[in-house]
Amino acid sequence: METAVYSATPVPVEQFIDGIRELAQGLITKQKIYEYLCAYEIRDEDLAHYQQWLPDRHTRNKIFRNELIEVMLICWPVGAVTPLHTHNGQLGWMTMIEGRLMVENYRKIECNRPENQQVVGMDCLAGATRIEMKHLDTELCVPGGPLNTVDKTQTIHRIKNLPEWNERAMSVHVYSRPIDSCVVFDLEAQRCFRRDLKYDNE
Ligand SMILES: [Fe+2]
Repeated sequence: METAVYSATPVPVEQFIDGIRELAQGLITKQKIYEYLCAYEIRDEDLAHYQQWLPDRHTRNKIFRNELIEVMLICWPVGAVTPLHTHNGQLGWMTMIEGRLMVENYRKIECNRPENQQVVGMDCLAGATRIEMKHLDTELCVPGGPLNTVDKTQTIHRIKNLPEWNERAMSVHVYSRPIDSCVVFDLEAQRCFRRDLKYDNE
């Protein structure tokens, strides 16, 4: 049996976003947003406006974005999987609305283009052709369970909605700061590249 570790109060989307904006006016810390997301969630009838389902991949649906923070609803059909990717040193928080997700955390050990990390405003230019990664751990994320996060020390992961669960999943993601691209790793082909991130609802 899964034990809930928090129970958030559903609020209208406007109220939820106002609260986040207010927090973002001060120093944004991992703990601050974590506690907010354990206390409040967007009520179902408002989330319904952002839902979009595709049969073969997850959709990213923008709820709010300014220079500091972005909030989106991600809809994961059965079997949806992200490639292994970075978060550019962002802070990020994921709260489950329905279904469940598996998060596999990785750490980069080495690559043959370390000089490509020496760039301002992004984590790396990518372009390596030899990459060594270490699988650190795997987290199961469920509604009411501990939030999954990315931060400056844990920035590489892959998310899966396992086909055998046979259940779609929805999660709300908060990121600071917003990013428009990330580095994607293809370990089989031993290469990495930057990929643009788009919203599916604009
Ligand atoms: Fe991610």
